[in-house]
This record gives sequence, C-alpha cells and structure tokens, in this order.
Amino acid sequence: MRPIEELVQADQGLVRRAIFSDEDIFKQEIKQIFGRAWLFVGHESLVPNPDDYFVSQMGTDSVILTRNRQGQIQVLLNSCSHRGMKLCRYDHGNNRTFTCPYHGWSFSTDGQLVERPGELVGVPGFAKNYMGELDKKSWGLKSVAQIHNYKGTIWATWDPNAPPFEEYVGDMRLYLDSALDHRDGREGGSEVIGGVQKWRVKSNWKMPAENFIGDLYHDISHRSVDVVGIGPSGGRGRRDAMQGRVAIAFKDLGHGLLGNLPHYEEPDYSPMYTAYPEVERYYREVHEKRIQNLGNNMRVKHRVGTIFPNMSFHGWQPRTITVFHPVSATEMEMWRMYLVDSDAPEEVKESARHYFLRYSGPGGMTESDDMENWTGATAASQGDIAQDLYFNYQMGIGHTKPVPELRGAVVSHEFTEENARAYYRRWAQFMQGSSWETMTPTY
Ligand code: FES
Ligand SMILES: [Fe+2]
Repeated sequence: MRPIEELVQADQGLVRRAIFSDEDIFKQEIKQIFGRAWLFVGHESLVPNPDDYFVSQMGTDSVILTRNRQGQIQVLLNSCSHRGMKLCRYDHGNNRTFTCPYHGWSFSTDGQLVERPGELVGVPGFAKNYMGELDKKSWGLKSVAQIHNYKGTIWATWDPNAPPFEEYVGDMRLYLDSALDHRDGREGGSEVIGGVQKWRVKSNWKMPAENFIGDLYHDISHRSVDVVGIGPSGGRGRRDAMQGRVAIAFKDLGHGLLGNLPHYEEPDYSPMYTAYPEVERYYREVHEKRIQNLGNNMRVKHRVGTIFPNMSFHGWQPRTITVFHPVSATEMEMWRMYLVDSDAPEEVKESARHYFLRYSGPGGMTESDDMENWTGATAASQGDIAQDLYFNYQMGIGHTKPVPELRGAVVSHEFTEENARAYYRRWAQFMQGSSWETMTPTY
C-alpha cells in the first residue's frame, strides 16, 4: 500500500483512485476509521418500547441497538460470544433476552437486573455438562465503549478514548439540529416514519459521503428530474424555492454541508406542499411558532450535509438521514430513514412520506441519478490504466473565509470542492493512526 500522504494530498486537491477500490486500504479504513469514530447507529424512535431492538451496523460489524426494561438504550455486538453465531437475525423486534440459535446461550438486554447489558444469563447444560464451571460473567456480548443519544439519534464508538460526541460533531451540531428538531423550533421532536429503506450499491462508501457534504457541482446530473418536477408542491424542480445557499466546511473535523450561514432572524416563509392546503397550513403555523420559540437564538435553515465518516442528512426537503455502510472497497449498503415531526397531523406525515419516496431511496428519482454516477465512477476507475490516476478536487482552493459564529468552519461559494478536501484531510488523519489527542482540535 502506498503511504497515506501520497494517496491524499488534500491541499493540492488530489486523491488517488486506489482509496475507492483497494481492498487493503478498505481493511485499514474499517480498523482506523470505523473502529474509532463516532458512528450513527439509529434513532430512538426505532426502539420505542422496553425490550425493543433494531439491528444496525458499525463498519462491517452487525450490532444490536436495544432498549432495556428501564428504558435505557444499549449497543451490543451481534455475534455470540460462544462461537460467533449471528445472534439476532431479524431486522427489528421485541425480546427480553437474545437466545443464540446455535447452542442456545442467551444474553440479557438489561443493564439493571444483571451487572451489564449483554451479560450471559443462560447456558443449556450449565450444571450437567459444564459442571457449573463456566465464568458466565466474562462471556457477555461485547458492548460499545461509548454511546450518546443526541436529540433522538443514537451514536456509538468502539473507542474508549474517543472525545465526547458533542466535541466530535462540533458546531456542525447546529445543522444536525435543523434536521432533528421540530419544525416549530422545539428541541428534538422528530421520529422516523415508515421504517428503514436498505439497499446495496456497487460504489465505494465514500462517494456518497462526499456527494452529500456539498457537491453542488453535480447538480447537472439531476436535470431530467428538475424538468419532470417532483417537488413537494408539484410543478418543476425537486424542491420548493430556497435562497442563500453556501458551502461550509469544518476543516479539522471533516464534516461539511451546503446550507445557510447562521442567523438570528427567521428568513421569510417559503410556501411548502402547496398542492395540499392542510399541509401548507401546518407548515405556515409551525413557521410562526418557530419565530416565537427561537426568538433571538442563532439558527440555520439547512439543506444537506455529512458528518464524518458515513452519516449524511437532509434537513429540510426532503428531511432524511442516510448512512453508507461499507461492504467492500467497491460496494456499500445504503440506509435511508425519513424524519417527520412526531406530533404532526397524519396528512402532513403522509404527504412528506410520498415526497421522500419519489426523491430518495432505491426508487427515488434523484437518488437514482446519484447512484448511476457513483457506480459508474467506481467501475470506470478500476481499469488497468485508470486505477493509477488521481481524482481532481481543485475547485476553489484558497477561496474561503472563516465563519466567526462556527468554531473551525470556513465558508465558500455554493460551488467548491473545499468540503471534500476537508473530508479527505480528516480521512488521512484517521488512517495515519494519530492518537485522539493529536486529532481533536483545541479551539
Ligand atoms: S455460537 Fe452461540 S451458543 Fe454457540
Ligand atoms: Fe445528487
């Protein structure tokens, strides 16, 4: 494998194609990045009741997101400690314990009645076959090192030395808030509607991450969708009107977005879902309440962004969370979750759901364009001649300004590759194995 500084020369806007196709690099990513970073594992509304579980993914490891009887959320490795069997084989459900189908060991979801969640509580033949000689306490399921519930989104890391989640996400938090908070400005208040869409794409997992971080330049590939018109209010375009969009990069954290600079006053209301009068009324009402609720607090109106390494979100239209789970160097599994205000009227939720589906997901018209690009670029970069070249990320080098309200952030025009450069600079840092002390910015 070539040295990392040769693979990524972020300041020059050069990234070697091997990082999108080489299996050795992929293996190192799984260890260095997915073994250490804070990763998005789900939303609390996927496990609303005690003993609910949802099977998720951290890097190439299957994990179980579960809520114990006391209402606390845990993230456990979905692999039996006896002989590795995939313990929980359903996507989601409700269970008091997890019983392994191979030899029948069973594990708790409960951190209260036993010493720790995932503890081994039942072993067939414990008295007779094992003669009571098995140290059950030390054979529980592996649990993540740290877990954080951020406004309903659940984040976890395997690394006990990772900095607290809020430091990891930094002031990018403001933009994440715009997706997770209620449309009327109240904290949290969103839920996942309609389950989780999952599908496989023959693309390296970083291609969508850099796409969502602020690649407006690729807008040209959505021309046909714009002409057809799939927007929430009908008519031409993919969304309702929007203004003031810029690219913002968190240089030291690797996060970035396309959206608005922070502001203290709510911009004018732009009509939404005008094809449905009831729904339009709802959005007008929550807009008025938002002005009252937020007062002089800083807020943003957000479009789209990526939190390093593999979680992206649309904060406005559509309003979704998407995760790119690595499968191999040239394949990923994409997951989409769609957010709505949890107390919105059914009609509002339904019209949003329909719009989300025609925009995103495996059958979404906009996402189909994107997938075509990512799979095409992955495939055409693997030829003998092609694979040794660099990708070009040179747009807008040296044309950024700091954003005083956001720690460590810089702003560019709408069209720039600055956000991608920040992302790959962070990627290189993780890959080089620097310790968290050297990787955590001190502002
Ligand atoms: S592998 Fe799970 S009980 Fe044996
Ligand atoms: Fe796109």
